[in-house]
Amino acid sequence: MKIKATTKIYGIFGHPVGHSLSPLMHNAAFEELKLNCVYVAFDINPKDIKTATESIKTMGISGVNVTIPHKETILRHLDSISPEARLTGAVNTVKNDGGKLYGFNTDVEGFLKAIKWDLGLHPEGLRVILLGAGGASRAVITALCMNQVSEIFVLNRTLAKAEKLATEFKNHFKKITITPIYLEDKNSVKKYLKVSDLVINATSSGMGGVNHFELPLENLRNGSMVYDLVYKPRETALVKSARELGHKTSDGLSMLIYQGAESFEIWTGKKAPIEVMRKAIE
Ligand code: ATR
Repeated sequence: MKIKATTKIYGIFGHPVGHSLSPLMHNAAFEELKLNCVYVAFDINPKDIKTATESIKTMGISGVNVTIPHKETILRHLDSISPEARLTGAVNTVKNDGGKLYGFNTDVEGFLKAIKWDLGLHPEGLRVILLGAGGASRAVITALCMNQVSEIFVLNRTLAKAEKLATEFKNHFKKITITPIYLEDKNSVKKYLKVSDLVINATSSGMGGVNHFELPLENLRNGSMVYDLVYKPRETALVKSARELGHKTSDGLSMLIYQGAESFEIWTGKKAPIEVMRKAIE
């Protein structure tokens, strides 16, 4: 692609950002659709997030993805926030529309598409074990609650954080039962594994092959599935054990691709070339 005076600029705000796979994925998609656009990485120091966000308007940048540590702090500098981003409390996609900045959280739709296409699941009526109560869990719980999940068991190493998350979402979604559970309470964990349809790992356990805790997966109900947001390595210890026990599983690479595809569609109004994006990062 030839960079010209009219080339539209997209990018990602992060710190650090050198490891991001988003430039590969989006530039491959722009190339495929022959769009005169380029996607670059911006390493933004946390103290500069306000001026960096203002510069999206000043410099006519068309849109950005936002990653750690700016997902929460960028919110207050935007003109408008979508409902799912407001619930999540985090923005991962900004669109500059005629000088107004709109914030979205495409992790929510990315997660929904990932479980739909990888596992054939929709949240409606499901009983779900959600491991973790941090930022990634907030996107997942938002997706589940906005799509009529039946019941969520939030398991976390720090019980107070699971309680806080459960209380917040119960206040918004009164019909959904959300139970916080201490991860080390093995009896409770076994009990909830026996009645769950889906187990989701949204903790950092398993990342880089480091496993911080083990679930007594032999108690997991037959036919129940496992989705691990971790994608490095592609097969975590959790996914491996679940697969060996005969459960359908999937890893977080699909969520990464689908959240990217969703951002692409918000920016360009065109259908994202999913397979091209997948190939670019695989
Ligand atoms: P992210 O934005 O990726 O979700 P985060 O907000 O820091 O990151 O949340 C990380 C999650 O992984 C938390 O639920 C954390 O548990 P705590 O709330 O107890 O900190 C969980 N986590 C991280 N390291 C863990 C470990 N060694 N064992 C169990 N859970 C862990």
